[in-house]
Amino acid sequence: MPTITVNGKVCDFTPGQTIVQAANAAGVEIPQYCYHDGLSIVASCRICLAEIWAPDAKTGQIVPQMGGKLQPTCQTPATAGMVVYADSPKAVANQKAVMEYLLINHPLDCPVCDQSGECFLQDYSYQYGRGVSRFEEQKVKNPKKDVGPHVLLYSDRCIMCTRCVRFTREVAGTAELMVQGRGNKEEIDVFPGVALDNPLSANVIDLCPVGALLDKDFLFAQRVWFLKSSPSIDGITASGDNIRIEHNQGKVYRIKPRTNLSINKWWISDEVRYGWKFVHSDERLRSPLRRQFGTLIESDYTRAYEDAVKGLRAATASGKRVALLVSPMLTCEEAFVLVKLAREADPRAIIGVGPIPTGGKDQTFPPSAKPDDKNAFTIYAEKCPNRRGVTRVLEAILGQGNVLDFAGFLRALGLGSGHSDVGAVVLTGNYPSNWVTPELTSCIDGKFVVLIDTLASSLVDDCDVLIPGATWVEKAGTFENARGMLQGFEAAIPVIELAKTEGQIALDLLAELGNEAVEPREPQTLVVQSSMGQVAAGVQVAPARATPFNAAHVRGEMAQASASLSLFITNVTMPEGETVRPSDMPIVDL
Ligand code: SF4
Ligand code: FES
Repeated sequence: MPTITVNGKVCDFTPGQTIVQAANAAGVEIPQYCYHDGLSIVASCRICLAEIWAPDAKTGQIVPQMGGKLQPTCQTPATAGMVVYADSPKAVANQKAVMEYLLINHPLDCPVCDQSGECFLQDYSYQYGRGVSRFEEQKVKNPKKDVGPHVLLYSDRCIMCTRCVRFTREVAGTAELMVQGRGNKEEIDVFPGVALDNPLSANVIDLCPVGALLDKDFLFAQRVWFLKSSPSIDGITASGDNIRIEHNQGKVYRIKPRTNLSINKWWISDEVRYGWKFVHSDERLRSPLRRQFGTLIESDYTRAYEDAVKGLRAATASGKRVALLVSPMLTCEEAFVLVKLAREADPRAIIGVGPIPTGGKDQTFPPSAKPDDKNAFTIYAEKCPNRRGVTRVLEAILGQGNVLDFAGFLRALGLGSGHSDVGAVVLTGNYPSNWVTPELTSCIDGKFVVLIDTLASSLVDDCDVLIPGATWVEKAGTFENARGMLQGFEAAIPVIELAKTEGQIALDLLAELGNEAVEPREPQTLVVQSSMGQVAAGVQVAPARATPFNAAHVRGEMAQASASLSLFITNVTMPEGETVRPSDMPIVDL
């Protein structure tokens, strides 16, 4: 592989890469504002300028290029043997000058700016700027603007890198943003009467290297240095977008994209970014309920499990069958243990996959791109994360043709015919919004119903036992996305109050069916995945449970149960460890 040398470090590159790309890949820092891997190169901010030397074509001697002038490393292709000095006195003087110009009109409002703590203007001021300002005149003040449903623009913080403008043109293909004016009156703006309102609009917030484009949803919600970041997978749609869940003390504050060039590139849709709100909804089901003398009452887990198992046993004892509906919102591992539960309760159990929410058609961005294009971004019409994974697991265990779709499941419960040999139904939901259809309600009438769900719905009134489930941010598991990729993830926050993951519920019910102990356990601290050096969020009192559910162990069991599930050992990708940037200041415990 050809190499270049940047600031004394040898960096590999592939032909066609620029100096900045080679340096970034090798972990050599060259400051950069306007450059972004996913956008066209404009070389306008000028902070990446460096002295570039390269072998002379005739003599082979290393000689300065362009007469020794500084050149933009983001735009200059790397060539073999090049030597780049981004730390020479001339390059450092340029970095200081650029920082000084950028800060001339920049307000010193870091204490009230949402970007504070993750701002490249702050970081580069510290690393590359001057310690003092020589500017004594009045700063130019530009307006704050509400530019779209999700985005606020604080114009006077803008450094005119134009990343946001290029994103709307090159990725979203909607071009709502533009540059208007000249000199210190230059501003980013929307075209008159046009809002920044497209399905990818909030990506400009991530792209903005300073605090000019702000997320209305996150505005003043939390200082970023309090947030823990857990790598995860989109749990709302079939895209399997790679995300980071940012949370503090068991509460999610925002979701950001995690780069995966095979799936979501550098972006996520607004739907994925803001779709997590149901996690902390007031409608969340928080404790078990069971029916006593016709009335639903709050219950402890021991009694709820006893009643659930009694109902399932009563159905089979009377010659009726058990039916299980597995939601496509659940993980593959949960689907596996739920099927085990249903077949343990009734070897003739009827098993189906829950309704598949869809919205419109698949959308590819930019609109002119084909879904297979290298830089295309697709929003899938299917609004559940794991239809393929759940179906794969169920078919592997039950055989193809034995897994019912939702319509088939309803028919098995008697829809249309009025006849059914099903006496007990286990329903799993976990949808981010109401999923109950009148047909389902009418079909379960007169049957014993165990409902495992996350949000309150009309089904709660119709069930005999309710067990509160957990959203995807509160659990570990695997989803198979629309491209057939199996991606694992870990829990980001503890499970809400007395709810449990569906996997744990299935294990508990299995233990109850097998007359094993399901008892209250010692209070247990939930270890939440967080960045190094940060305190794990949340402590949870563990209610009655059997063996703890462990997604990795279940994947091993799956591979043993069926050869076709061995890909859960070989093909599941887990998020790579996040690079933790060491603090450049001593951390003091207060
Ligand atoms: S608003 Fe942000 S992303 Fe857009 S040009 Fe200004 S600094 Fe760059
Ligand atoms: S990053 Fe090279 S000029 Fe902006």
